[in-house]
Amino acid sequence: MPDQPTTTRTEGAEVASTKNYRVAVIGGDGIGPEVTSEALKVVAASGVNLETTEFDLGASRYQRTGEVLSEETLEELRGFDAIVLGAVGPAIGDTSVPPGTLERGLLLKMRFDLDLYVNLRPFTGVPGSLAEGCDFVVIRENTEGMYAGEGGFLRKGTPAEIATQGSVNTRFGVERCVRFAFELANSRAAKHLTLVHKTNVLTFAGDLWQRTVNAVGLEYPEVTTDYNHIDAACIYMVENPGRYDVIVTDNLFGDILTDLAGAVAGGIGFAASANLNPDRTGPSLFEPVHGAAHDIAGQQKANPLAAIVSSALMLQHLGEDDAAQRIIAAVRDYADNDPKKDASTSEIGDAIAGKV
Ligand code: NAD
Ligand code: IPM
Ligand code: MN
Repeated sequence: MPDQPTTTRTEGAEVASTKNYRVAVIGGDGIGPEVTSEALKVVAASGVNLETTEFDLGASRYQRTGEVLSEETLEELRGFDAIVLGAVGPAIGDTSVPPGTLERGLLLKMRFDLDLYVNLRPFTGVPGSLAEGCDFVVIRENTEGMYAGEGGFLRKGTPAEIATQGSVNTRFGVERCVRFAFELANSRAAKHLTLVHKTNVLTFAGDLWQRTVNAVGLEYPEVTTDYNHIDAACIYMVENPGRYDVIVTDNLFGDILTDLAGAVAGGIGFAASANLNPDRTGPSLFEPVHGAAHDIAGQQKANPLAAIVSSALMLQHLGEDDAAQRIIAAVRDYADNDPKKDASTSEIGDAIAGKV
C-alpha cells in the first residue's frame, strides 16, 4: 500500500518570516507523535510558516502493513525542505518487529541515503545537573563506522557459527565530518576540539581518525585540540563536562556518549539533534536523541523539550535564526526558572509556545 501523507498548512501566529517551508513529519512510535506535535506548536508560535506533510512510518505502520520505507517514499522525502522525526522503534522486548527492522530500514536508511553525514548534538547543562553552566556540542559521524552494516553470518544457527560486524572508516567520510567539527569549533568562543576514540585498541580506525584530525587541524591554527579515549571520556563527561567545547567522534561512540551527555546535562528529555546534510544536496532531519520510550507513551509524561530544541535546530538550518534563538532562549528560561516536575507534555509545550 503506498503511503498517503496528509498535508497541513500552519500559519505562524505573528508571521515573522514570509517564507513557507515544506516539512515532512514522521511522528513515529511511542512518545514520538506526542513530542513532535509540541515541537510543531512551538514553531507555529515562533511565527515561521510550515507546510507539514505527515508520513505514517514506524513500528505501528510496519505491524499493520509490513512496510518500512519504500523507495518511492524516500524519493518523496527528498523533495522537502526538512524532515522532523519524533522517534521510531518497537517497545523493548516486542518481538513482533525483528531487531533492526526500523532502525536500519527506516532511520539509518534516511541518514545514509540522504547523506546526513553530521549528527550534531548540542548540550547545555540545566541548573542542578552535573553539567550546570556547561555548553558543548558532540559531532557524531553519521554514515559509517560500526553502523555501516558490514559483516554477516557464516554457518548461522550451527554450533560453529560465526558473526562478524566490521567498522567502515573512509578518509573521505572521516575528513568531511572532522572538517565540519573544526569549522564549528572555530566559530565558537572556546575554539577547542576533542577527538574521542579508542586509538589504543582500534589501531586501524583510530589511526585514520587521529591522522585526519592532525591534518585538518593545520587549517585551523586557532583551534586547540585534545584527545580522549572513549572510556576516559565517560569519566570526564560525568566528573568535569566543562572541559568540553566541541567533541568529534565516530558513529557508535557518538551514539553512546550522547545518551550519557544527555543524562549529565539534565536528562535525556532535553537532548536534541540535527542530522545534517551540510552540502545541502537534500533535506536534513531533526529529531530528539531519545527513542520511542514506550514505557511512558500516551501518558503525557514525556519531556518535549528535546523535540522542541530539535525543531529550533531545523529553523537555524533553514536560515530562520531569529525564531530559532527565541525558541532556544524560551527553553532555557523555562529550564532555568520554572521546571515544574509534574508538568504534562502539552503543558510544557504551551509554556514554551507562550514564551517565544
Ligand atoms: P528510549 O530513549 O526510548 O528510553 C530510555 C529511557 O529514557 C526510558 O526510561 C524512557 O522513559 C526515558 N525517556 C526517553 N525519552 C524521554 C523523554 N522525552 N522524556 C522523559 N523520559 C524519556 O530508549 P530505549 O528504551 O532503548 O528504546 C525504545 C525504542 O526506541 C527502541 O525501539 C529503540 O530502537 C528506539 N529508539 C529510537 C530512536 C530514534 O528514533 N531516534 C532513538 C533511540 C531509540
Ligand atoms: C540515536 C538512536 C539510533 C542510533 C537508533 C535508533 C538507530 O539510538 O539516534 O541515537 O543508534 O543512532
Ligand atoms: Mn542513541
